[in-house]
Amino acid sequence: MSRLIVISNRVSVPKAAGAAGAQGGLAVALNSALREHRGIWFGWSGQETEEFTGHLDMQRNNGVTTATIDLEPQDIDEYYNGYANRTLWPLFHYRIDLTEYDRNFGEGYERVNARFADSVLPLIEPDDLVWVHDYHLLPLGSMLRQKGVKNRIGLFLHTPWPPARLLVSLPFHERLVSSMLEYDVIGFQTAEWLGSFLHYVDKEMGLDVNEDGSIDYNGRRIVARAFPIGVDYKEFVEGGQSEEAKDAYDHLKASVRGRKVLIGVDRLDYSKGLGERFESFNRFLADNPDQAANVVLLQIAPPSRGDVASYQQIREDLERKTGHINGAHADVAFVPIRYVNRGYPRRQLAGFYRAADIGLVTPLRDGMNLVAKEYVAAQDAEDPGVLILSQFAGAALQLTDALQVNPHSIEHVSETIKRALEMPVAERRRRHEKLLASVRDEDVVHWRDEFVKTLFGKQDVEAGETAA
Ligand code: ADP
Ligand code: G6P
Repeated sequence: MSRLIVISNRVSVPKAAGAAGAQGGLAVALNSALREHRGIWFGWSGQETEEFTGHLDMQRNNGVTTATIDLEPQDIDEYYNGYANRTLWPLFHYRIDLTEYDRNFGEGYERVNARFADSVLPLIEPDDLVWVHDYHLLPLGSMLRQKGVKNRIGLFLHTPWPPARLLVSLPFHERLVSSMLEYDVIGFQTAEWLGSFLHYVDKEMGLDVNEDGSIDYNGRRIVARAFPIGVDYKEFVEGGQSEEAKDAYDHLKASVRGRKVLIGVDRLDYSKGLGERFESFNRFLADNPDQAANVVLLQIAPPSRGDVASYQQIREDLERKTGHINGAHADVAFVPIRYVNRGYPRRQLAGFYRAADIGLVTPLRDGMNLVAKEYVAAQDAEDPGVLILSQFAGAALQLTDALQVNPHSIEHVSETIKRALEMPVAERRRRHEKLLASVRDEDVVHWRDEFVKTLFGKQDVEAGETAA
């Protein structure tokens, strides 16, 4: 088995099994993917240093070896808060209204990618497979090539890929995409994002896309494919049996005193549709006064990217909305929305999911959405809850037995909440059984193995007549 060198912006390993730590789909998935695979996870420590040195901090925690570097304040500003989270993240989530285009961000992005390349280089041995993750590091593969790395290098994008019509609003878009064509394999969450990428490559760059989705470029063949990410099913189900999960379940159940629970678990991000979700719940309460005292929405939303203005804004909006809705519908002994800004250890989360009658997962746009899959994995097969899922989450392509909604339609989501609350147990079981099969069969191990197999097995097919 080849060693894996996994590279991502954020490296986040819990100190011990069951501890709080990783949040965000990438960190949760990579922890699971690396635990049973030889290799190193390289990236930013999340820490700031006055002057960049490239010093590698090597550690082993909870079965995963990590190598991290610290970044300078200017790097964090221009690369992480700037190009990654004020330019690419909103653009990739179809929010060009929030996308900022600033030349300094672009320069910072390239500088930090070059720093990543220099720092990781000494760790790479000839037989290693190099696997780069996400929008922070799109040009890293080409920079490694410039430094002479001949290993197979793959990229997996955890976010959506936007339609070409939107992508062309990015200055130097062609330069960014050309740099990606130095990878051997480019993976997307779904066929939809893959299709947008191939459409761009075909229409904007005039490249040949073969029937199998591969691309011929500069005499090389690049494999572009969808690899839908999954949850660590085994860990999640085992965690669900733990004392911590049972305590969390009992605690939540006791506190709601017989009321039905709707649960949302999301980083506090504008892509998650939290404002629309709260409004839909508000509409449900207003339209169903007889039900209002019988339901509680538990929204767990740890703050994210707090140095970026659009994230400060969404946080303020939600605080205001929660205040309004609770003010309008609360009673002396009852508050309809429990809004909690903190993270929880995964086992407790499993207990909360299981205690919830409805999983409310309504992003406006999401590469995949692991919360939807975690909710399914955590349910009791005899008395499962109902998943309400946005049609705009990548997961909607697999989880077709969820109640799918358009999160922009407040009425539709409100009516769907009603339908879910009234759904007979036989229908709940029938739907859950199918959802569970998909979550179990296409788990994170399957995702890792499929990607690694493709990267490892990829032959350097030389393209047509242009081959050297
Ligand atoms: P994203 O990657 O955009 O954050 P996902 O739904 O794909 O969205 O992944 C989010 C991951 O972060 C899930 O595994 C979820 O359990 C975890 N997570 C989110 N909020 C919390 C929280 N408050 N406590 C613990 N884990 C959380
Ligand atoms: C999403 C992104 C990840 C990112 C995570 C948390 O899952 O795809 O790349 O790590 O959100 O965001 P943060 O900015 O805190 O790393």
